[in-house]
Formats: sequence, C-alpha cells, structure tokens
Amino acid sequence: MDRQRLLNALQTQAIETPAFIYDEAQLIQDAQLALDAIEGDRTHLLFAMKSFSVPGGLRAIASVADGFHASSLFEAKLGRGILGPRRPIHLTTPGIRPSDAAELFELCDLVSFNSMEQWAQFRERAVGVTECGLRVNPRLSNIADERYDPCRRHSKLGASIEDVRETLRADPEQFDGLTGLMFHTNCDALDTAPLLDTVRYLDQHLSSLLKQLRWIDLGGGYLFFGDDECAEASDGQGPRAFRCGRTRRRAADLKGLNQALDLLRSHYDLRIYLEPGASISRRAGIIVSSVVDLVRSNGRTVAVLDTSVNHMPEVLEFNSIPDVLGDLDYGGHRYLLAGATCLAGDVFGECAFTDPLEIGSRVFFLDAGAYSMVKANFFNGVNMPSIYSFNSDGVLTLDRAFVYEDFLEYCGGLQHVHS
Ligand SMILES: Cc1ncc(COP(=O)(O)O)c(C=O)c1O
Repeated sequence: MDRQRLLNALQTQAIETPAFIYDEAQLIQDAQLALDAIEGDRTHLLFAMKSFSVPGGLRAIASVADGFHASSLFEAKLGRGILGPRRPIHLTTPGIRPSDAAELFELCDLVSFNSMEQWAQFRERAVGVTECGLRVNPRLSNIADERYDPCRRHSKLGASIEDVRETLRADPEQFDGLTGLMFHTNCDALDTAPLLDTVRYLDQHLSSLLKQLRWIDLGGGYLFFGDDECAEASDGQGPRAFRCGRTRRRAADLKGLNQALDLLRSHYDLRIYLEPGASISRRAGIIVSSVVDLVRSNGRTVAVLDTSVNHMPEVLEFNSIPDVLGDLDYGGHRYLLAGATCLAGDVFGECAFTDPLEIGSRVFFLDAGAYSMVKANFFNGVNMPSIYSFNSDGVLTLDRAFVYEDFLEYCGGLQHVHS
C-alpha cells in the first residue's frame, strides 16, 4: 500500500491538527486481506465496528466485507445505514437493555446472546425476528493481560462450555430456537493456532449442538497482516527505522485458521462468519499532531503536542506503544512526546527524530486507526481530532471538524450557557 502518497499529501496540504486521517485504499486492502484469508464456500466477513466507526471509512470497508458486527443499538443503526436493508449485521453484547431489544432484533440479522440468562430473557421476543445464537466461552485463555482476556476468570463474556453441556444434558429444550454459536477469545494475535485449538475444543465438546445449527461466528482478535507489509508501508527508511507497536513482530500465520475452516466444513453444514476489527482498521488511520511546546525536564526534552492520549486511549489502558513516523532506533534528537492535558501521565513515550522538533513541527502517529476515535473524548476540553478521508485519487477531504458547540453538547449544556 502506498502510504508514502498519503504522507506526501499530509506534508503538502494544509490540515488543522489534531487530525485523524483514514485511508480508504488501506481499509479496502486490509478488508481484502481478511477476505482472502477466509476465502471459500459459505464463509462471510463481518467488520467489527467497535474498532472504527467513521461512516466514510465504513462505506469503504463495505465495498469488500459482507457485513458488520455491532455491539450496541447505535452501532447497529449506523451499520444498517451504511449497508442498506439486505446485508448482514451480527450483534453480540453483554448488555441488551429491554427497551432497546425490539429495535435491535429488527435491525440485526443475527444476534448472539451473551449468556443463557440473556437468551432466556429475550428468547420469546427474538425468535422469528432475528437468527438467534449463543456466545460460548471455552475458557481457553490466550492473553496474558486479563483486562482484555475474554477467557479470564469470572468472565462475563459468553456461557461457559461446561454450563452449556450441562444444560444440554439436563434440559435440551432450552436450545430450541437457537440457530448459531459464536465465540471471541483473542486480541491482536498474528498466529491463528489458538483459533484451531478453540474450534477443536468445540468440536470435541459441543458436536451434537453444532450438528443442529446453521451458523458459527469465530469472532475477531486475529491480524491478517504482518511485519512485511508494515515495512513496505513505511516511509522508505526501512523497517528498522520504526519501532513497531505491541502487535507486529512477524507475518500472520494462517495455518490454524485454514485448518479450523477445514474442520468445520468437513464435520458440519454451517455458514461461517469471521468478524475482525483491528486487522482492517488499524493500519488505515493516522493521527497528525503539532508540537505546541518544548520543555526541559530532568535532563529530557518534552515535546507537548496538541493531541492527547485521550485520542488514543489504549496508550494508557493497555500500555500500547504508538508507532511514530520517523522514530529512530538509534541516535537522532530524542523527545518525550506528551499530550496537551493536565494528566501527568498523558505521555506517548520516547521518540527520536533525524531533525530537531520545533514549535509547529508535525508528529504523525501511524497505525492509529483501531480503537482510537471510537474511544476518544474531550477531556480537559482539548478538541477532538478533525476527521479527514484520503481517497484512492490522492485527495484529502475534511469529513468533520469539531467545534466548541460539540464540546458543549457533549457536556450536556447548550441550554445553560449564554450565547
Ligand atoms: C465479540 C467481538 N467480536 C469482534 C471483535 C473485534 O476484535 P479485534 O478488533 O481484535 O479484531 C471484538 C473485540 O473486542 C469482540 O469483542
């Protein structure tokens, strides 16, 4: 992918910072990579909107993906608005409000209930309106940090396989009306071996149930790109010039995925869905910021930017290391990059550049498309990044600039303030 073209456009065209740029061609390329990975009979790609929900970008993704995965009423409504009436939306959420249920079931073609209790609560209202599934939790943990491990102890995400088996034995009628199963058990994994382990486990323990069903959803959590593409997409200085974030150390290994698909196809007659988020959205987003101050502090130079970790909350939530354009492994002019808020820990990390930074210098955060804008907020009244699209003709277009009134509305206060 020609990231250099986008970077050139960002150097030459005047944009307001902070800015979030999404690259339509990159979204399409990464959706295509995911689609190629699952290619085959009765297999469908759903994009998980929770990672990125800029409408213009969703339209680009929808040119490749079959449909979307939604986590809430608002996402489902947005997804329907992009996809039109006929393409699939799958919903899973631990929290369905009774007042939202009817609209959700109308909007979504597939709903995976998060627990046997949630299924019991909504079964009568859902059957016949939507295709009902159950989220199961195999409790096969793949992630060291339990803050984002769906298989952690006391997890709220999905009915445990033991409970499902026990209910199947004791009261099989409880499964009447269910047509599918889903699981989601990983995060940012390049190796799909755990997916195969999970499918084997389900095949071993829930085979009789799977034989009665029409579909299975294998969740997201896997990346279909690797370091090779990352290097090609860099600024031409080669991969060693970049610090790679928490995700990319090698190319994606799809052997487990292929074997899992073969197993499911040979043992069952199921439609198969995959619903990646970050794999499609991460590389397509860039946050552009400007240096607003350079401060000496205990022998280091702190570059204060006009963005904040609140525009990339996973920097604090999960200690993820942002990829900064031009960051050198060795030498150069070193800076601590910090955000513009009062939070002492609003710090992105240390970076080094060939040329010294000055007030007004641009700092580019690469691979910032996933879980950034969907989680961004107005903390300290620092403005949200303006949203720009970059299309395949090389044109940068402003989709949305946020203004003071947006902040005021967000705070719930329009009517209380003197105009
Ligand atoms: C149910 C479900 N599906 C899909 C995803 C997308 O995961 P990722 O963005 O890691 O691919 C998530 C992420 O939390 C999820 O909870």
